[in-house]
Amino acid sequence: MSDVVIVGAGLIGLTAAWRTAQAGATVTLLDADSERAASRVAAGMLAPISELNYGEAALFRLGTVASRGYPDFVAELMNISGIDVDYRQRGTVSVALDNDDHRALAEIFDYAALQGAKVHKLRGRDCRRHEPGLSPKVRGGWLVETDHQVDPRRLLRSLEVAAQRAGVRRRTASAARLHSRHHRVTGIETESGDLLNTDAVVIAAGCWSTRIEGVPPSARPPVRPIKGQLLRLRAPTDFPMLNHTVRGLVHGVPVYLVPRSDGELVLGATSEEQGFDRRITLEAIYSLVRDARLLFPGVTELELVEISAGLRPGSPDNAPIVGERGPRGLWWATGHYRNGALLAPATGAAIARMLRGGTTPDEFAAFSPDRFSAAAETLGV
Ligand code: GLY
Repeated sequence: MSDVVIVGAGLIGLTAAWRTAQAGATVTLLDADSERAASRVAAGMLAPISELNYGEAALFRLGTVASRGYPDFVAELMNISGIDVDYRQRGTVSVALDNDDHRALAEIFDYAALQGAKVHKLRGRDCRRHEPGLSPKVRGGWLVETDHQVDPRRLLRSLEVAAQRAGVRRRTASAARLHSRHHRVTGIETESGDLLNTDAVVIAAGCWSTRIEGVPPSARPPVRPIKGQLLRLRAPTDFPMLNHTVRGLVHGVPVYLVPRSDGELVLGATSEEQGFDRRITLEAIYSLVRDARLLFPGVTELELVEISAGLRPGSPDNAPIVGERGPRGLWWATGHYRNGALLAPATGAAIARMLRGGTTPDEFAAFSPDRFSAAAETLGV
C-alpha cells in the first residue's frame, strides 16, 4: 500500500513525487516509458514574459511566482542530487525580423507591461549590442532580464536522484485502470494486471493523462498532444555563442535559440496539431533552420547533434490543470503545455500541499480541473 501513486515520471510527476515524499508520504511513481515525456525534448525556457499571449493574465501570475521560486528550488535540488541543472539567469532577448513582426511583438510586450512585467525595448542595434551574432536585418526587440532557462534533461536526472533519496519507489509499468469504490479511489492497476492499493492517485502523464480506464468521462481533463519538433546543435569552443536565449518572430512565425553552458544550442520549435504523432518531418526542420538563420546567420555552422519531437500537453486555455476531480483521491497535474519546466516546481509543491489536506495555493486557484466541467457537461462528455 502506498499513500500516493503518481502516474508519469516527467518533470511534473517527478517533482510532485519528490515533494510529496519529502512531506512524509510513501510514494510510488509509475511510468512505463519516461523516454517519451515531453520534458525530455523540451528546450527549458523559463519565460513567463516572452511566451505570454493575450488573455493569459492568470497564467502570467502563476509563471511569475514559479520563476521567482526557481533559484531556491534549483539550489535545494542541486544540493541533494549533486547534479548541475545548468540554470542560467542571463535573460531572454526577444526579437522581431520585420515591421509586422515588430508590431505584433510590441502589442504583446505592451500587454505584458500592463500585467506588471519589466522589459526593456531595444532598437535593432541594441539587439546586436546584446547579441553580436544577430543579423543586421533584425528590426528591434525587447530584453527580458527575468526570463531564464534550465536544461530539462539534467533537471530530470537531478529530480530522479532527489526523489529516490526521499524514498520514492519507482515502478516501470503503465497505468491501465483506476479502481474506485463508493466514489473513492482504492487503487490503480497496471497493464500487466498488478493492483497497487492506494487512496490517492495523481495523474501527471502529460498528453497521455486521459488514457487510463476507470476514470469517469466527466472527470477526464481536456488535454491533447501539441507536437514540437526541435534540433540540438553543438558549437565548437571558439564559436561566438549566444549569451541569452533568443526568441524571435520571423514573418509571423516564432522560433527560439537556447544556448547551454556546455556549447549545446537548442533550436525550436514547431507547434503542430497532429495527434499522437512523433515523426520528424523535413518541412519542420527546413522551416526552423531557415527562420533561425534569418535571425542568427552563424547557426548553420553548428554541428547537428539531434532532432527530436515531443508532445506537449495542451489544454483549451493553454494553462495547467491541477487539482482533484472525479472520485475522491483522484488528482490531476497535467496540461502544462509550453511551461512544464517553469511550472514543475510550483505544481509539485502545490500537489504535495493539497494531498496533505492543505488549501490550493492562490496562484493555482484559476487552474482547477473543474473550470472545464460546465463546457464538458454542455457537450455531454
Ligand atoms: N516553451 C517552449 C516550447 O514549448 O516550445
